[in-house]
Amino acid sequence: QLPSFSPDEFVLVTGGLGYIGSHAALELMKAGYNVIIIDDLSNSFSSVRWRIQQLAAAHCRAEGRPIPQLRFHEADYQSPAMKVILEQYATPSYDGGDHPRSQIAAVIHFAAYKSVPLSILHPLDYYENNVCGLVRFVRLLGSFHIHTFIFSSSATVYGSKANTEKPLREEDVVHHSHDPNRPASVEGLACPYARTKYFCEAILADVAASDPRWRIVVLRYFNPIGCDPSGVLGESPRATPTNLFPVVGQVLTGQRDQLSVFGRDWPTRDGTAIRDYVHVADIARGHVKALEKENTRGEPFRVYNLGSGTGSSVLEVVRSLEAATGTEIPIVWTGRRPGDVGFCVAANARAEKELDWTPIVGIGQSAKDLWNYLLLQQQERTLPAAAT
Ligand code: NAD
Ligand code: WQD
Repeated sequence: QLPSFSPDEFVLVTGGLGYIGSHAALELMKAGYNVIIIDDLSNSFSSVRWRIQQLAAAHCRAEGRPIPQLRFHEADYQSPAMKVILEQYATPSYDGGDHPRSQIAAVIHFAAYKSVPLSILHPLDYYENNVCGLVRFVRLLGSFHIHTFIFSSSATVYGSKANTEKPLREEDVVHHSHDPNRPASVEGLACPYARTKYFCEAILADVAASDPRWRIVVLRYFNPIGCDPSGVLGESPRATPTNLFPVVGQVLTGQRDQLSVFGRDWPTRDGTAIRDYVHVADIARGHVKALEKENTRGEPFRVYNLGSGTGSSVLEVVRSLEAATGTEIPIVWTGRRPGDVGFCVAANARAEKELDWTPIVGIGQSAKDLWNYLLLQQQERTLPAAAT
């Protein structure tokens, strides 16, 4: 089933206890991969590890397959501790050469800070963790002869290009150009967070161009929503959420009185902004597909959008959540949020064609999954013994 991975090999997942990383770790284990998670718990909790383990084990048992290994190292991915961890997975080369061979066959790099407003307040923290860390980490991986790397990027790299009603194509972002009519894309980016993702992409493109052993895939997520349908795994950040779905979640659980809707004067069908919401499990499956593709793909660097390809307005999202929960969501109209765009939707033909990836879960099901998770969280809070 997994042609180029042997049973003693691992996929290393940084940020694997976070929202998207935890769902990706689960999806990898369901597909038979052993996983090593690196997380410093700056925006997650160690109990997520057991949730991933529980769901993966249940899935594999139901299918009568062996349960892949899940290991966890609490560490900052850019700290000297990483060298010590990678040494644990280095084995002598098969071919009698001097180079150690790593049991780590591929790395998926989710670890980063992701808040747009905090990136404006603390830009150096963002450049340090997201960009400087990446440089150090990629250099370290190269020294262990680990060259397969999947990077979490974001639709945020489309910046002001997102404001037209055309779905965004991967080639709309230009990393290097001497052509004055097609300048590199950095100038339309709204915040330091967006620039960190753009710089990381450009750095990775340069690395891949410099050494043909690299196989680098950049995945640009649009708006990830929902969670595992079991309700066991979801989005539980330490930081206060600012994204639409988790903010509505706070309204539904009484942690906020109402949803502030940012702008009703966008040139859209109902005046509220349109985004491409895509279920987190679909995004997670995109990583498994990208990894499988690595076995056959020729180019050292390739970018893919992971979006549903369809747009929904803020009001449409609110209606879906109301229908899924049977609860009215009070809203208050406020002005546009600085840096927002009116329309941001993916063209996803490249991922469909080259990765054989098709998103399958819609907003209605995503809303139900979120509700399941919130209900289970509430139950766990009232049963302290279960809240491990
Ligand atoms: P998240 O904050 O839930 O997960 C990130 C995880 O990385 C957290 O568990 C955090 O503790 C960990 N982390 C951060 N810095 C670390 C470090 N130096 N060392 C080790 N661990 C570290 O975020 P998420 O929503 O799961 O996002 C994952 C990735 O996807 C990020 O790179 C983010 O920028 C990107 N992304 C997210 C979205 C979104 O809307 N959620 C959209 C596009 C792209
Ligand atoms: C969606 C829509 C808001 C909250 C951000 C990042 C992007 C990526 C995904 C990481 C917008 C509206 C929201 C609220 C609202 N993250 N909204 N009231 O802004 O599309 O993208 O997350 O890479 O980089 O910028 O997502 O969920 O914040 O907003 O009206 O309280 O909901 O204005 O139209 P966004 P979002």
